[in-house]
Amino acid sequence: MSFTHEKIETSMPWLVVLVVLVVSVGGLVEILPLFFQKSTTEPLPGMHPYTALQLEGRDIYIREGCSNCHSQMIRPFRAETERYGHFSVAAESVWDHPFLWGSKRTGPDLARVGGRYSDDWHRAHLNNPRDVVPESNMPGYPFLATSVLDGKDTPAKMRALRTVGVPYTDADVAGSSAAVAGKTEQEALIAYLQGLGLALKGVN
Ligand code: HEC
Repeated sequence: MSFTHEKIETSMPWLVVLVVLVVSVGGLVEILPLFFQKSTTEPLPGMHPYTALQLEGRDIYIREGCSNCHSQMIRPFRAETERYGHFSVAAESVWDHPFLWGSKRTGPDLARVGGRYSDDWHRAHLNNPRDVVPESNMPGYPFLATSVLDGKDTPAKMRALRTVGVPYTDADVAGSSAAVAGKTEQEALIAYLQGLGLALKGVN
């Protein structure tokens, strides 16, 4: 039996077996190196993990579903980089569990929003977006300003992240409750937003 194209294309079992083989080998060759490549597994030089307050802020971002309207991944297209800044690189998210790249943009991408506005602007915007952006259709989150964190779970969160490779020190974990306790959810969220994208600018 000769293995002609015609034979393969007219025999369902051979077609299935060979397609699976080709796709598997192709997939492995493309995907496996990503687990070992420095650019996708190592943080940027000088990058710090989220502070305790930023970490709590990130959890509020997740809880409130901000990613339903905001992506955090700038694609390498001119229209995007001119609007948002440098395109996102994998090294920026090696400590993000889960990552929040998102795919829906009702609002702008937030990957580099850190430092773009003052804390006061964020406060006003989160309380009622229309106070600072009249045409905004983002919902207000005024309740975050009065909800106070106790920081009880923060050390456990940090320890959990440590098991998946985020380099929190014992001192980070030990001081995390105190760093968070008494702060409002709004303060935590703003601390998180203000840190977004700073690693690539070399300021985090
Ligand atoms: C229903 C969709 C929606 C949700 C949910 C949403 N936003 Fe927005 N957001 C928008 C839109 C639209 C804009 C643009 C108008 C404006 O600035 O208010 C925006 C703007 C922003 C901006 C300013 C970005 C810039 O570069 O000017 C920030 C920061 C922001 N949102 C943070 C958040 C956070 C934090 C949450 C979750 C607590 C959130 N958003 C939830 C729709 C949304």
